[in-house]
Amino acid sequence: MSILEAILDRRSIRSYQKKEIPKEVLMQILEAGRQAPSAVNRQPIRFVVVNDQNILKDLCDTIITRFVKEAPAVIVGCADVKSLMTGKWAIVDATIAMENMVIAASALGIGSCWIGACNEEKVKEMLKVPKDWKVVALVTLGYPSEQPKPKKKKPIEELFNFNSFQN
Ligand SMILES: Cc1cc2nc3c(=O)[nH]c(=O)nc-3n(C[C@H](O)[C@H](O)[C@H](O)COP(=O)(O)O)c2cc1C
Repeated sequence: MSILEAILDRRSIRSYQKKEIPKEVLMQILEAGRQAPSAVNRQPIRFVVVNDQNILKDLCDTIITRFVKEAPAVIVGCADVKSLMTGKWAIVDATIAMENMVIAASALGIGSCWIGACNEEKVKEMLKVPKDWKVVALVTLGYPSEQPKPKKKKPIEELFNFNSFQN
């Protein structure tokens, strides 16, 4: 699969097979996150990969969307927003790395879904994330057990203008 196909074929997957993600496949996904660009290359980011069933269950109780219980792994993206020099870019850095992982997952046949609707304070407490860090979002990972239709996207002319915000 080409990288473009991995991007264009990706859908948010909210239902997963009861099948572990092999360690080498998971590590390829994490490597795609590690290689992401970062402002001044400071990388003020950290990801908690949750694949322990007990912790996953507790983590999922903090998430508003219930399907996550079925996901065999969840990546919790954290940003050191108070970091020297590039703290203001920490969320962007974490987001880029997470989307790299989402696309890598797609290329490897692994479904994913971004999750914003969680209780950040509970997640921080449970995973021992430092108080002054931000939990940017979660990404679920798992072999898909659904094939959602493509979601309607805004037309290209509504999203992109050439040379000026307004034509
Ligand atoms: C920052 C962000 C937060 C999201 N949070 C949730 C969420 O909490 N629960 C959920 O079911 N989907 C969540 N989504 C997935 C979106 O609903 C999904 O990307 C959108 O409907 C478009 O569908 P697609 O990803 O299949 O193209 C989130 C996506 C993003 C980018």
